[in-house]
Order: sequence, then C-alpha cells, then structure tokens
Amino acid sequence: MSAHHIHPEFHRFLHRHDKERLLGQRGVVIWLIGLSGSGKSTIANAVERVLHQQGKFTVILDGDNLRTGINSNLGFSDEDRLENIRRIAEMAKIFVSQGIITLVSAITPRGELRDAARGLLGDDLFEVYVKASYEACEKRDVKGLYAKAARGEIGHFTGKDGSFEPPVDANLVVDTELVSIEDAAFEVLEKIRPLIAVRRPES
Ligand code: ADX
Repeated sequence: MSAHHIHPEFHRFLHRHDKERLLGQRGVVIWLIGLSGSGKSTIANAVERVLHQQGKFTVILDGDNLRTGINSNLGFSDEDRLENIRRIAEMAKIFVSQGIITLVSAITPRGELRDAARGLLGDDLFEVYVKASYEACEKRDVKGLYAKAARGEIGHFTGKDGSFEPPVDANLVVDTELVSIEDAAFEVLEKIRPLIAVRRPES
C-alpha cells in the first residue's frame, strides 16, 4: 500500500454548498435496509419519481444493479458483503458531497455493515428499515430466489443460512406487510423533506 504517496486535494474543488445552491436542495443518503423482496427498490423508485417531479436531483444505488457492474466480483460471504457495502457507501459519499439526494437499496444485513456505512457517511445517512418477514418475502418471491433457497440452490441466503440482524436504531421503519408502497414512499418523503430543504442564507 502506498497511501502516503497520495495527495488528495479537496480544498481546490468547489464546495458542496455551491452545488447544493445550484441544485436548490441539500444532499442526503436515504439507505433502505431489508430482506430481498421486502420492497426496498420499489420504494426507492417511487420516492425518486416524486422527487424528480419536484425538481430534485437524485441517484439510486441498487445492490442488485451494482452487483452486475462495479461489484460484480463480489459474492455473499460476510467478507464480500462488507466490501459491497463499503463500496456502495463510498459511492454514496461522493454523490452526497455533490448535493445529490442518494437512494441506496441494499440488504445491508448486519449491524457491522451499517456501522461501516455510518462511519463513512455520518450525519448524511438516513436509514430506513423496510420491514417484512422472511415468510412474507418468501410468499411474494418476485425473483424466484426464495424457492431456489428452499431447494438448497443458493448458499448464504439472507434470512436463511445468511444472517439478518433487524436494525434497532433506524431513522424510520416502514412495514410493507402493513402499508402500501405508496404509503411507505410518502412516509420517507415526509421524513426527508426538512433534510433536503435548502437552508435560508444567514442575514
Ligand atoms: S448485501 O447483503 O450485500 O447488502 P445486496 O443488496 O447487494 O446484498 O444484494 C442482494 C441481492 O442479491 C438480492 O436482492 C438478490 O436478488 C441477490 N442475491 C443473490 N444471492 C443472494 C444471497 N445469497 N442472499 C441474498 N441475496 C442474494
């Protein structure tokens, strides 16, 4: 490692504040946590569409999608999931530092992974636990993965032989067994409204 030969130069670049003023918004990372099939990506998509209509600039970092590209060399061991989350959090950090409202959709199954993301993102992180039981997700089984897991065709499957520790301190919990996707998206939008509003310039 030759980290001591690297000279990051953040001070010469435009500030986040300049970008946020241009965009008319403040950046935040809305990190959706939950089992596969809990509704994370669907909620991210619904939230993004509303924000887009309101003239807000967003990006979605979706675990499944990123695993076809930048994270295509990672599997589902504890070690690979940690690297997956580290990379996603580092990407989110770049986007939020440009004032962009960044939606992350990734299972993020363990406290250690969420701590790593919080360590990188600090106060820019807004965690949403998209709650749905294994049984409910198995019943939905949109991608057919739960059936495969039941047949023993997928190893380390989250909630089965891969651990899932429900978050205890998320900023918001939406239970998709109880509320519709629209209502869940509405709750997220209501909660982040004050976070993305531009602060009045001090007089
Ligand atoms: S995370 O645990 O590292 O946060 P991530 O959200 O990126 O996971 O990817 C999860 C997606 O990968 C699931 O939605 C599912 O489509 C797919 N997948 C494939 N194998 C597994 C597995 N063993 N456990 C969970 N999801 C899997």
